[in-house]
Formats: sequence, structure tokens, C-alpha cells
Amino acid sequence: MREKLLPYGRQSLDDADVQAVVDVLKSDWLTTGPKVGEFEERFAAWIGARHAVSFSSGTAALHGAAFAAGLGPGDEAITTPMTFCATANCILYQGATPIFADVSPDTLNLDPEEVARKLSARTSARVKAIIAVDYAGHPGALEELGQLAKTQGQRQRERPVLIEDASHALGAEYRGKRVGSIADMTVFSFHPVKHLTTGEGGMVATNDAGLAETLRRFRNHGISSEARERLESGQWFYEMVLLGFNYRLTDIACALGLSQLEKLAANLARRREIAAQYAAAFRELRPVVIPTVRADVNPAWHLYPVRLNLEMLAVGRGEIFRALRAENIGVNVHYVPVHQHPYYRQHFQSKESFPVAEDAYERLISLPMFHSMTAQDVADVTHAVNKVVTYYQGKCDGSGERSDLLETRQSH
Ligand SMILES: Cc1ncc(COP(=O)(O)O)c(C=O)c1O
Repeated sequence: MREKLLPYGRQSLDDADVQAVVDVLKSDWLTTGPKVGEFEERFAAWIGARHAVSFSSGTAALHGAAFAAGLGPGDEAITTPMTFCATANCILYQGATPIFADVSPDTLNLDPEEVARKLSARTSARVKAIIAVDYAGHPGALEELGQLAKTQGQRQRERPVLIEDASHALGAEYRGKRVGSIADMTVFSFHPVKHLTTGEGGMVATNDAGLAETLRRFRNHGISSEARERLESGQWFYEMVLLGFNYRLTDIACALGLSQLEKLAANLARRREIAAQYAAAFRELRPVVIPTVRADVNPAWHLYPVRLNLEMLAVGRGEIFRALRAENIGVNVHYVPVHQHPYYRQHFQSKESFPVAEDAYERLISLPMFHSMTAQDVADVTHAVNKVVTYYQGKCDGSGERSDLLETRQSH
């Protein structure tokens, strides 16, 4: 057993990252300075998008995207229940209504057939956006969703905007292309467990210059110019043209982002290596179902969520989770489906269920996945999972008559 807990995710910072931050702290600009534009340009080039607009968090970036998509009271946006709540919350920030559609059983990404079903029930011009999530770093069915948005646009005369929440998927490839310029807007998060960190931070990438301008204004109080532009052009006059927020990312954070960008390719390569090692280690362990990778993608592996074949185990997910934690393996669960959170239950009182997401939730466990995991860390995880799962598999009589197959919510 490991002596110290192995977390499920953590940042990797080196001396160059520290120096980049120190240099900015000694400079004239802590915020609204030159590092912001530099980071945005280099990031956009890296993912292959025309524009990238930085935000103070991934959540703020999602809010910006929801605003730029034109969401407002009376509008609807279709999204997935299998995500972090921020994906759906950005719809609520704009006073619009989230419409959940169930996920595909293999990837746990928004199922285009379910989205089509929701859309066919809506003929008025209320659906302003489809917000897909690249769950765990596996790109969603972007082509199909884009096509559905187009078809809906003909029916309701205004095409819903496709927003891709790629908070898990920086560097992931869809049909040979990095995510970032495929959807109308692609959102990234730079929280410490992500592929690149700025402490807190986020970005919206787009090829549309109009959307980029709206996003820039929205993150800066709705003001039409930035402080440094005015200083450099000797102007003082500015106008507020829309109701925005202060969602700016500082130069301190952007300097860290620029330095982290240098290591992104190596970080991704290491995550892919760990994913391959996990897949090889668990291929024969039948109670553990490894994540599916569709033929047309190369995932970025923010998470490594396995699903438990509970019918082959004597206990539920909660017991497996606790046993792995007792082995000092920092497992986690992603996610409680959004519609099941108390806030969503109270405010929407929907009786609707999403069987694929709900069934997956009972079986999911995320194994540690981060760039600086050592070979020993990976071996510790595979050893502990094998030990715990084999033990409970041996105790299972296979009758399937188990009272704890589905856990109660209180047990987590
Ligand atoms: C899918 C998804 N969307 C949005 C967010 C929010 O990002 P942030 O923490 O940067 O606000 C997260 C954060 O983990 C996420 O996992």
C-alpha cells in the first residue's frame, strides 16, 4: 500500500513557470497588459483557431459564450447532464432554460439522437444553443451536432450556436484536427487539474470575429476599448455598449499560461501514455470497463473514468471507492448528473430521467490521471484496482440479488 495519497489530478509547475510570474510581478502591467494578448495569440495558434479570448475562469468563459450566443430569458439551450454543473449554470446566468438530453453509452457525451429528439419537439425560435461537453477529454460528436444545429436553423429561422465545453479536452483531436475551431465557440478551463494551468482561468476560441469582439467586451464590463489601447493612443474616452462583467485574466496568470503552453505537448503525450498503460492493465479485468475511444478521435485524457460492472461485484461503487481510498489511491467520481443536484431539482422539478447518464453515474470511478505521475504511481494504481476488484469479484455469487447494487445518495 502507498504511504501517501496519490491525488486524482494535480498541476505541474517548474522553475521557468515561477520565473515567468516573477518577471511580470516586476513589470508595469499586472493586468490588461501585453501578456494577455500574447497568451491569447499563442493559444489560438496552438489550437488552430483565429481568435482566443481569455477569461478569469472556465466558468466565466462559459458565461461569455452563453452571452455571445444570444441566450436570454425565454430561450433554451440543450446540454448534457454528464458534466460539471458550470456547463449548465451558464445557461441560467443568462436567464435561459437548460434542456438536458441523454448521453451516448460508449463515450458519455451528448447523444445526437437524443438532441434530435429534443429539437423535434421545439419549433419556435427558442433554442439558441447546443452546449456539448468533451467528457474526460474525448471530443463530442461535433459534426453530427453541427448538422443538427443547421437543420434546426432552417426550421426556426435562426441557427442555434454550437458551444463546445472543452474544459477537459485541450489538445484533443477530432477527425485529425485539434478541438478549438470546430464548434462556433470552444471553451477551455485552466484550473490546476487541467492540462495547462493559470491558477484559475479560461478561454473561448472562435473563428468568428464578431463573436470574439462581443466576448472581449463582455469580459471587460461591456466597454468598447481596453485601458492599454487608450493609454497608447493618448485617448481617455470610452463607452459601455453592453452589460458585461470584470472577467479579465491577469498578466500574472497569462505569463504562467504562456510558460505552461511550452510544456503542453509533453503533458498530453504523458497522459496518453498513462491511458494506454491503464487500458492494457485492465483489459482482462472484466468487472472494470475502460473508457471507449471512438475511431475518429484522439482524446486528451483529462480524466480516466472507468465504469464498474457491478453485476460481477459483491459490493457497490461506494465500497470500491472506499477500499481504493484506503489503499491511498485518490479516486474521484465525475459526475453527479447535473439534473440530480438539489438546486436543479428544486428549480425545475422535472420528473424526466436520463437513464444512460444515471446508470453510468452509479458505476463511475475516476482513477488518478496527471502529467507528473511516475511509473511507480501508475503501478500503484493498477495494483490497487486489481487487488480490490478481484477481492470483491471473488465474493460475488453472481445471483445479481444484491440490495446495494444501486447506492443511495446519502452513501457518498
Ligand atoms: C466540464 C467543465 N466545464 C466547466 C468547468 C469550469 O471551469 P473552471 O473551474 O475553470 O471555472 C469545469 C471545471 O472543472 C469542467 O470540468
